[in-house]
Amino acid sequence: MAYPAVQSAGDTILEIDKLRKTHVSHSHGNKEQLTVIDEVSFGVKEGEFVTIIGPSGCGKSTLLNIVAGLEPYDSGDIVVRGHRIGAAGPDIVIVFQEDSLFPWLTVQGNVEFGLKEKGVSKAERKRIASEYIELVDLEHFADARIHQLSGGMKQRVAIARALAMNPRILLMDEPFGALDARTRQILQNEIQKIHEKTKKTILFVTHDVREAVSLGDRVIVFTHRPAHIKQQYIVDLPRPRDSEDPALIGIINSIMREIKEETSSVDGESQKERGRDRVELTA
Ligand SMILES: Nc1ncnc2c1ncn2[C@@H]1O[C@H](COP(=O)(O)OP(=O)(O)O)[C@@H](O)[C@H]1O
Ligand SMILES: [Mg+2]
Repeated sequence: MAYPAVQSAGDTILEIDKLRKTHVSHSHGNKEQLTVIDEVSFGVKEGEFVTIIGPSGCGKSTLLNIVAGLEPYDSGDIVVRGHRIGAAGPDIVIVFQEDSLFPWLTVQGNVEFGLKEKGVSKAERKRIASEYIELVDLEHFADARIHQLSGGMKQRVAIARALAMNPRILLMDEPFGALDARTRQILQNEIQKIHEKTKKTILFVTHDVREAVSLGDRVIVFTHRPAHIKQQYIVDLPRPRDSEDPALIGIINSIMREIKEETSSVDGESQKERGRDRVELTA
């Protein structure tokens, strides 16, 4: 499919320009409109690891789904390498919190699945899948079934499956959100190593401030719904990052202050609602 060419600047791979999205839901015969994304604009550079943090329910998943081509949007532009995106394709792949791995396939079968769909030969599929299974340290589990794996291992498979498609952009929607703290930490280190090795462009959504700052080259802080950009931070710190680094802690504290400010400035909502929407403030 040919998309209309749009001018893009320098080495920016993804450009989101004045994006707006309103969900329409029908309840009790009434049509309700909920604006979740309000004129959001930002760019992502090739190879950059960008994290997005914002209160739960602000519109982060909606944004990622739109970029993945899974949901329509009302206005604005999403430009990938100078081309407006039209539909989901192998250029952009998304990893969810609890990924929909195929339980009837082995680890190898799951990682090969998309390649098979793309018409890649059997030998080539095997070679590519093995490479990514090794990258996520699951080479001893290539023939295992999904139900035999822990939550952390499943997310490793999901990451390998996404990378095997060689996407230009890897989207991750709270991929470690369902894992215990220890496993989460291990996978946070792992994704940094993977990013270093593959130089993939990653757009990673989280509601954990420490995770956002530990992983991102840049952190974008979203406001309460409807989401717009409150602040951006460049995290110019060496990797692997030291969790005790005062510079890292400084950025975490600054973002936590902003988010506190954000949650306390929400008008017209009950305390209960505010409590539910509060961002993870335990850094
Ligand atoms: N398909 C939909 N129809 C109506 N409302 C939706 C739909 N998807 C999400 N929402 C609402 O939009 C808001 C943003 O959702 P979401 O993007 O999932 O937030 P986040 O990922 O930041 O927690 C929430 O209030 C949610 O209930
Ligand atoms: Mg979400």
